[in-house]
Amino acid sequence: MAALSLGVASCGHASPSALDPHGPGSARIAGLWWFMFSVSAAVVVFVGAVILVGILPRRRRRHLDTDATPTWAKNLVVGGGVVFPVVVLSVLWVLTLHDMQALSSPPGRARLEVIVEGYQWWWKVQYPQLGIVTANDIHIPTGQPVRIRLVTHDVIHSFWVPQLTGKTDLISGKVNSTWVETDTPGVYRGQCAEYCGLQHANMIFYVVAQARPDFDAWAARERQGAAPPATSDLLRGQDVFLTSPCESCHTIRGTPAHGTLGPDLTHFGSRLTIGAGAAPNNPGTLGGWIIDSQGVKPGNKMPPIELPARDLQALIDWLESLK
Ligand code: CUA
Repeated sequence: MAALSLGVASCGHASPSALDPHGPGSARIAGLWWFMFSVSAAVVVFVGAVILVGILPRRRRRHLDTDATPTWAKNLVVGGGVVFPVVVLSVLWVLTLHDMQALSSPPGRARLEVIVEGYQWWWKVQYPQLGIVTANDIHIPTGQPVRIRLVTHDVIHSFWVPQLTGKTDLISGKVNSTWVETDTPGVYRGQCAEYCGLQHANMIFYVVAQARPDFDAWAARERQGAAPPATSDLLRGQDVFLTSPCESCHTIRGTPAHGTLGPDLTHFGSRLTIGAGAAPNNPGTLGGWIIDSQGVKPGNKMPPIELPARDLQALIDWLESLK
């Protein structure tokens, strides 16, 4: 858990860059980007040099006094204005098509499948083969491609993990597909990349890549329902949850709470953030979120929950205990 916290802390400070690839998909995209950048830079330098030569003052030559266009100028227009761009753009186009084709399916068979469903403004994450439902953190094992199926509950969103894969849209009535793979355990920040309303910028998620044994341990824990409250304070917290509006919107497996409007909170305590990246997950931010989530993330669907201080503290303690 300490490693995960460190990971999200560093992610919070450094922006994830598509030019810092950590997987075969993003490496291919970064390679294409650098090639396009080099070609574009060479073209800019070449055109700039031609313009410079053209505007430099020099002696009028006699033949320029006539209307006849010199042959070298015709060649420059045809060669530099038609042939050269057609060749350069064709090469870039073919390379792009080739990479798009290569990116459409993973290099090996993707045995694990994750369904990611976009909501305004959070991500429901399901593992149909493992019987897991969670939100906003997508755990994957390292060293193998993972298939991601993308659907949306409402408007169009876009799934983007710059360090692992390019953007794929989530479109109503359609199941889109992408994949992620990395050999390096770590926390990779993802972001909705299609404007989807007020909190588009706060529709963040994290891909948590773990070595196989760690991933298996996470999955085994995640499959279970919430543990029964171990202390009277935690029991009080659970009672507060079940007698407040919370339970009508959230599911916590192992309790009677089966709401589906908001994220499943069965293992909320182990999540990295609150409100899909709106705040780090700790007791302080959770308290602020419960009493005034509209102040933290205006426009989200959660109403303010007013509670006596002792009840609020017990609720926070219980939710954070759901590891
Ligand atoms: Cu979802 Cu932008």
